[in-house]
Amino acid sequence: MKSILDNKPELRLQIGQVAEVAGYLWQKGWAERNGGNITVNITEQIDDALRGLPAIGGPHPIGKTLPHLKGCWFYCKGTGRRMRDLARDPMANGSVIRITPDCAHYEIVADLPVAPTSELPSHLAVHDWLLTKGSPYRASLHTHPIELVALTHNRKWLEKDAATRMLWSMIPETKAFCPRGLGIVPYMMPSSVELAEATIRTLADNYDVVMWEKHGVFAVDTDIMDAFDQVDVLNKATQIYIAARGMGFEPDGMTDAQMQELSRAFGLPK
Ligand code: 13P
Ligand code: ZN
Repeated sequence: MKSILDNKPELRLQIGQVAEVAGYLWQKGWAERNGGNITVNITEQIDDALRGLPAIGGPHPIGKTLPHLKGCWFYCKGTGRRMRDLARDPMANGSVIRITPDCAHYEIVADLPVAPTSELPSHLAVHDWLLTKGSPYRASLHTHPIELVALTHNRKWLEKDAATRMLWSMIPETKAFCPRGLGIVPYMMPSSVELAEATIRTLADNYDVVMWEKHGVFAVDTDIMDAFDQVDVLNKATQIYIAARGMGFEPDGMTDAQMQELSRAFGLPK
């Protein structure tokens, strides 16, 4: 079957990376059924030939007007689609969309009329906000990591930076590779505009990964592999905490002085 990825090696590489990450999400048990979603701002990989393509679906309303997305293009997981299927065939389980000039609608351009994820309001609002900040981040990931979600079923870990501090103290790599920690968004209806707004407020409070209470995480980074890695190191730290508790003790954790030493040595932001 013909694809818009034909003879577009850079775009194929980007979408191939999404497929690779989708496979990891499934292998980790974080992507039950259609759980989780990915969007990537692919505008930099769009050339004049692609820009000239006709729409195959839409225009559909985004639910918000997002002025900084004028002329932007995204790859989006399809709503109801499985990560394990996307890993095998990203263009049959996701679609390429472009934002219409009114910045309030999107059109599906390729390859099949697959409706984008129900979390599109959160994803696109975050991409819009990233552009206003001049951020180099182009990828956003929502996933359901088992141990991290379990943490949010106890009030104690919903206090600002309580989970961050504990997770950073489990193993030095957690702070090194998720250096802004884990922001917390209280439970809100999935796919709502309120959830999108709360996600941006929390990212703006200097986090790359935010926890949607009793639901999942939302992470942003330069590309989808880096966004996945931030969640992966956080979830690994949670597993270490659980393993220690399972051995019958509360883990000591690294000291504040040890964590400050790490920040100095690696030039970390916190
Ligand atoms: P979609 O299948 O619409 O992407 O929804 C999955 C999900 O995790 C909603 O929060
Ligand atoms: Zn979800």
